[in-house]
Amino acid sequence: MQPFDVQSRTRFVFGEHSLDRLGELVADLASQASPIQRVLVVSDAGLIDAGHFDRAAKVLRERGFEVNSFHDFGENPTSAMVDEGVRVAAEWKPDLLVGLGGGSSMDCCKGINFVYSCGGKIQDYAGVGKATTDMLPMVAVPTTAGTGSESQSFALISDAETHVKMPCGDPRAACRVAILDPLLTLTQPAAVTALTGIDAISHAIETYVTKRRNPMSMTYGRRAFGLLAEGFSAVLSDPTDVAARSRMQLGASFAGMAIETSMLGAAHATANPLTARYDVPHGQAVGMMLPAVIRLNGRSHATSYAELLREMGQEVAVEEAPTVLATIVGEWLAQAGMKNSLEGLSISTGEIDLFAQDAMNQWTGTFNPIPLDLDIVRGLYRSVASGT
Ligand SMILES: [Fe+2]
Repeated sequence: MQPFDVQSRTRFVFGEHSLDRLGELVADLASQASPIQRVLVVSDAGLIDAGHFDRAAKVLRERGFEVNSFHDFGENPTSAMVDEGVRVAAEWKPDLLVGLGGGSSMDCCKGINFVYSCGGKIQDYAGVGKATTDMLPMVAVPTTAGTGSESQSFALISDAETHVKMPCGDPRAACRVAILDPLLTLTQPAAVTALTGIDAISHAIETYVTKRRNPMSMTYGRRAFGLLAEGFSAVLSDPTDVAARSRMQLGASFAGMAIETSMLGAAHATANPLTARYDVPHGQAVGMMLPAVIRLNGRSHATSYAELLREMGQEVAVEEAPTVLATIVGEWLAQAGMKNSLEGLSISTGEIDLFAQDAMNQWTGTFNPIPLDLDIVRGLYRSVASGT
């Protein structure tokens, strides 16, 4: 068995209405650590319209904390957006950060924490273990069920100049508290539910077979897959189904815990160039590549895929497992109204060589169980050339 060394750093609080405990949980942190007076809430502008930001600010103020906010960033946060947040933090001088929103809010918050706490620029922290000092305590409050950023010590920030996605990871960037309130995910637009849900599913499936997988990541990955498989169709057909929303949110978080020690694989490595060059949403790009990657990795990990299928109540012969799982993912994509081909996204197959070169430079691809080379990666793109 693969050895592992995991220090859990995050307090997880799960349950309906758990956002109401934000003030109390920050007060708990204040009693354990250095005094906390001023809080900076990093949340995307959509959270104001949904009313979540006002609720968070209210429960913090009721506990006597002073609150300021940073909303000036978008999807796939960039180094420039982090710089702007650091400027706001330098003026406000917060004692604690709250990342409230989807993966963009939590990643932007972590990125701001790196630079505000440690100095320099976000590019200095690309890689693992580059923080130079302890960072501000951070509370994560996800409002989507997708990235699992609340469970990880990584921030994904794009370089504003080169558009390269930089994973910036350090144990000190891990959140001190993660509040998982499934009711917050009810306000997501349907497309966001679909895109983030497929992303979470891809995390569970990719982490389950990586070179770094270990007994702990596999336990989280398998249960994550079971929860997500049970919840995904249900939230698509009834967005108000709170039990299904709960499964999705826990599943996404558990998959995030699996990523923390197992990393990801070829579906993310091949998806990232599509996002960088054509702005294809992350969940769409990963979901489109995933069936092809399952078929590829099924050459050596059919048993693992059979285990995942068992987790969703399907017993199949091991040799059939990759095909069955790839087909199920394809059906989920179709149900979610997502594209399954480059043609469907109006992207020319003439770009495949370029994408393949980009994909080979993705760090995440190095953890794929079947070692990637240009021919294999080109083959993955060619297999999704045409379709709907
Ligand atoms: Fe992802």
